[in-house]
Amino acid sequence: MAELDLNFIRAQFPQFEDGWAFFESAGGSYLPRQVITRVTDYMNTSFVQPAWDFEASARASGRIADAKARLAHLINAGEDEILIGPSMTMNMYVLAQALRPLFGPGDEVIVTNLDHEANNGAWRRLADHGVTVREWQIDPETGALPASALDALLGPRTRLVCFSHCSNVVGTINDVKALVARIHAAGALACVDGVAYAPHRLPDMKDLDVDFYGFSLYKTFGPHAALLYGKRHLLEAARPQNHYFLTDAPYTLNPGGPNHELTAGAAGIADYLEAIDAHHFATPAASPRAQAQRCYDLFAAHEDRLANRVLDYLGQRNDVRIIGERRADGTRAPTISFAIHGRDASEVAEVLRRARIAVGHGDFYAKRCVEALGLLPAGGVVRASLAHYTNDADVDRLIAALETVR
Ligand SMILES: Cc1ncc(COP(=O)(O)O)c(C=O)c1O
Repeated sequence: MAELDLNFIRAQFPQFEDGWAFFESAGGSYLPRQVITRVTDYMNTSFVQPAWDFEASARASGRIADAKARLAHLINAGEDEILIGPSMTMNMYVLAQALRPLFGPGDEVIVTNLDHEANNGAWRRLADHGVTVREWQIDPETGALPASALDALLGPRTRLVCFSHCSNVVGTINDVKALVARIHAAGALACVDGVAYAPHRLPDMKDLDVDFYGFSLYKTFGPHAALLYGKRHLLEAARPQNHYFLTDAPYTLNPGGPNHELTAGAAGIADYLEAIDAHHFATPAASPRAQAQRCYDLFAAHEDRLANRVLDYLGQRNDVRIIGERRADGTRAPTISFAIHGRDASEVAEVLRRARIAVGHGDFYAKRCVEALGLLPAGGVVRASLAHYTNDADVDRLIAALETVR
């Protein structure tokens, strides 16, 4: 297999020119030129109300439709099964409002104490409408979400289970396909947060058989917007949240309408993957999704190697608690949270900041998880999140700076 050409990759991202070692991709990834070009091009040439017949308007509609079709293809979804909204949080909020009328008093929804609040709080609020909310809890030592604990919660009244493909704090990749099969066997639906997964592995809607799946485009090398997938018949069954006379799903779940330049600009994600493919492979792939898949395979190999460098370093220190798996061998994303004994997470982040190393610290809005891990009093976790564009020099800098925090 080809190796990822980091010089080529990094040349696509103008943000690297500032010289920082960037480890905050899980908060928001850097943006490749292809996306910037798409957004500015839309604004320069198509910035009118779409859907009319005049030239600029037809061009605007065409670009928006093209972007959605390419994104849908990448995740193996139908074009009429995805929508673009402002954020994962907003998409989940709208979806919860749209599904609420389908649930009766005593119906049950399962959420976790692992996840970011986006696929969590909106569902918990359904308790105000008579829905019973049950919590699927993590192992407080490891942060793992045990499948056996789900079995104990699933019952005849379970209507929906909301969980993540990968936690933005713990990094462990959950076996979504197997979990969805259990959930379906119990007669319930599955709504999966793929935000921390999609930048690292290419999700496949049909293979996972999820009912709803969402991720933020801005953490997946795209503009500040988010994609929501839903099975067609479920999008149609969901109660419309747009103007009453707009009845076409999935537009019904886009109250106020999507942001046009960012939706059109998201085509740049597909352009970026095509550029990587063209650079690394001599023979054509069967489809753009197959192209993307082989690019993601390169990402995964590179990310696992670098993540293991960071994990090995942290693992040999006896004053560090690593959250989640201690090896990256396909079972975890390179989103590495840790705590250094006796140090507040903000202190560690400050040392790194002074060395021009960007990390985040705290709970990353997965507050229930960080609380369950017992780390809120220590200021939460420090999170060094890698992406495929992270290079060995970045990791050298991170390790050297962490060495000064003893
Ligand atoms: C796992 C996960 N889910 C959801 C979100 C929320 O995404 P958005 O900012 O698009 O609402 C985040 C953001 O950090 C996240 O990491």
